[in-house]
Amino acid sequence: MLIPNMYYADLKDSYLFYHIAQKTNAYLKNHPDKHLYRMGIGDVSLPLCDAVIRALHEAVDDQANKSTFHGYMPECGASFLRETIADYYASKGVTVSADEVFVSSGASDELGDLLDLFDRKNTALVIEPAYPAYVDANVMAGRKMIHVSSGIENGFLPMPDDRLKAEILYICSPNNPTGAVFDKQKLQAWVDFANKNGSVILFDAAYEAFIEDETLPHSIFSLKGAKTCAIEICSLSKTAGFTGTRLGYTVIPKELVRNGMNLNEMWVRNRTTKTNGVSYIIQKGAAAVFTPEGQKQIKDNIQIYKNNARVLMEALDSIGIWYCGGKNAPYIWMKCPNHMGSWEFFDWLLEEIQVVGTPGEGFGACGEGYFRFSTFGSPEDTKEAARRLVALLKTTK
Ligand code: MLT
Repeated sequence: MLIPNMYYADLKDSYLFYHIAQKTNAYLKNHPDKHLYRMGIGDVSLPLCDAVIRALHEAVDDQANKSTFHGYMPECGASFLRETIADYYASKGVTVSADEVFVSSGASDELGDLLDLFDRKNTALVIEPAYPAYVDANVMAGRKMIHVSSGIENGFLPMPDDRLKAEILYICSPNNPTGAVFDKQKLQAWVDFANKNGSVILFDAAYEAFIEDETLPHSIFSLKGAKTCAIEICSLSKTAGFTGTRLGYTVIPKELVRNGMNLNEMWVRNRTTKTNGVSYIIQKGAAAVFTPEGQKQIKDNIQIYKNNARVLMEALDSIGIWYCGGKNAPYIWMKCPNHMGSWEFFDWLLEEIQVVGTPGEGFGACGEGYFRFSTFGSPEDTKEAARRLVALLKTTK
């Protein structure tokens, strides 16, 4: 008889964002006349920018002609896009070669798939609160995990400690959900720790485009020694509105070698076996993101989300609620009022003001008592949600 992967029995009943969607759908079923202010999952509300749309249309037309038609794409990504991304890194002062860049169908898919590179006997370290897919992907693989808690006392940026014994280290900066960002000095400490212990950092840089403070690192590869210990995972989902279009990229340096195995070569072997590449049309659209016109247009869109963040931060400031994030990241991480639990706060906001956020507890036990707002909603909805939030929270003072 087939034996299923029994580690699935160790997972929570449902994935965080799926659970929230179920709760909100149930609410809407009972209150069909209500409008919801959705600031839960970090899904963008602005359409793709003009430069991308034009490139997508042109690529569709290419597929209609024998001379420009593309069938299977190179598994690791089209060279035009890998080179464009390497140039983007160069513009940030970081040298990576095109064959160190792998085009993916998105950072969340990639973060799970990359675990193929590592033995199941390795231990994974997850800094919590954390994007829940890091944990779930390792639970599914039956891997041992160390959960490192963070909190207000360390600015949600814990530092390495020689007692932590793990081979796979997850670092997300700017952080989802807290919005905290490692500065160069703190990130260097993790790089040095990884090199000293032979660990590999999976550096989730999905929110790098939201960094305003230019002293903060956009890429782990701007740090000394990172090429011998890190893999960087990036995404156009939030940077350029590709949540539904799907495209990300991953950098695996050729210097990254463990136990005589070159991880860049291993990933080529993996991709050439397990994928047929991202579609030509989507890769053409992605390349347009990195043109001067595309960069200007996506930055204009990011500014709209940053204005949403300002609206929410001003609202929380006006009623004296503690929060972090919002400045260098598209998430605001607030303390629930009056010692409320995070799911209790979720239900209360949904019932009273139809505002949907994400309970901090969904990002790990130390997230209990906190709540996350995404700033990717429409400006109109964000303003109204902020107004409702202030009015409701004033009633609890
Ligand atoms: C989030 O809300 O944390 C993200 O949107 C989830 C994701 O990127 O998959």
